[in-house]
Amino acid sequence: MVNIAVLGYGTVGSGVAEVLRTNQESINNRAGQEINLKYVLDLRDFPGDAVEKILVHDYDIILNDDDVKIVVEVMGGVNPAYNFVKSALLKGKSVCTSNKELVAKHGAELIEIAKENRVNFLFEASVGGGIPIIRPLNQSLTADEIVEISGILNGTTNFILTSMSKDGLDFDTVLKKAQELGYAERNPEADVEGYDACRKIAILSSLACGHQVDYEDIHTEGITKITDMDFRYADKLDAAIKLIGSSRKSEKGFCAMVAPRMICSEHPLAGVNGVMNAIFVKGNVLGDVMFYGAGAGKLPTASAVVSDVVDAVKHIGTNIMTIWSTEKMPLLDVKDVESRFFIRVKNDDGMQDKLEAAFGGGEIVALDGVSDEIGFVTGMLKEREYEAAADSIGGVISMIRYEG
Ligand code: HSE
Repeated sequence: MVNIAVLGYGTVGSGVAEVLRTNQESINNRAGQEINLKYVLDLRDFPGDAVEKILVHDYDIILNDDDVKIVVEVMGGVNPAYNFVKSALLKGKSVCTSNKELVAKHGAELIEIAKENRVNFLFEASVGGGIPIIRPLNQSLTADEIVEISGILNGTTNFILTSMSKDGLDFDTVLKKAQELGYAERNPEADVEGYDACRKIAILSSLACGHQVDYEDIHTEGITKITDMDFRYADKLDAAIKLIGSSRKSEKGFCAMVAPRMICSEHPLAGVNGVMNAIFVKGNVLGDVMFYGAGAGKLPTASAVVSDVVDAVKHIGTNIMTIWSTEKMPLLDVKDVESRFFIRVKNDDGMQDKLEAAFGGGEIVALDGVSDEIGFVTGMLKEREYEAAADSIGGVISMIRYEG
């Protein structure tokens, strides 16, 4: 029998207890031995709940119990999670976490400590909720140089963008619904401003290149400026608007970005709707693969956490090698990153000529019944070239990067 402890009895923590109860027999069979939930740590009490008898409020009880071999950290946030996780690894306990803030900031160091102590630091649930992506990157795609990762990495924003596009609902109504359904972060700014997706692409990029990609270095834009007019233009262009986290490796360097993008309907990410996430990976020998599934929510996320627990049980006494060094990966200056751009501009006299001249050609997009503004899709430009051209014409209402 292997004893485990869960830190945090919120949405994911209660999901972990539920998954362990629901699939007890098959989970134990797959792990090769019985998994026993010995403690749940939380500041709160849960009278009448199934975990009432194993609830503790003092982390030292778990840390100092040598019978606890695996700690599941699902509290979120860097503090006190970092100290709890580090001390557990140093005490020879494996850790499984869903905490993307923690993994993005301290992943490389915690992996190293786990290695030195012949235990494991596993974080499948930190990206993509229930979608297996960390283990595939670490174990299945090891024959490839990963040249691109592009993903819809935040369920809340995808839920919001889908409802705005398909049901014509406004931003605030849909955000409230996402919060009620348990998808959103405690502070929804992390979702809608792209910070959550930024941490997730930082984790994936670090695993893809084997070095530390700092999330602070990743240019990040959220979805708060997207309006119903943008969706009208997207319809006209047969495109979808998605918040995309991406990283690319090229001869020019390594670039990473989080931003809303208008993507044509043939793009594999265009049809990923609602709370679903998808991660598109390009390998230099494999070509393209895509991982798709429930990107947020109690049970999908708990499923990924428990799969790590099973892996940790199967590898007691052995470290599963993960290549992610603390050495920093420098990123290309965002101003040198190339994209196409969709812009909305005031339809002043001569604007169409000005657009053609400033951007050196492109596609005009006009909406039926709209005369005071026009849309325009540029060719491929560096960000700095786009900014200079946009400044020179004036009258730009909004911009979304475009992938045709
Ligand atoms: N708030 C996150 C999301 C939860 O919406 O994707 C899963 O990380």
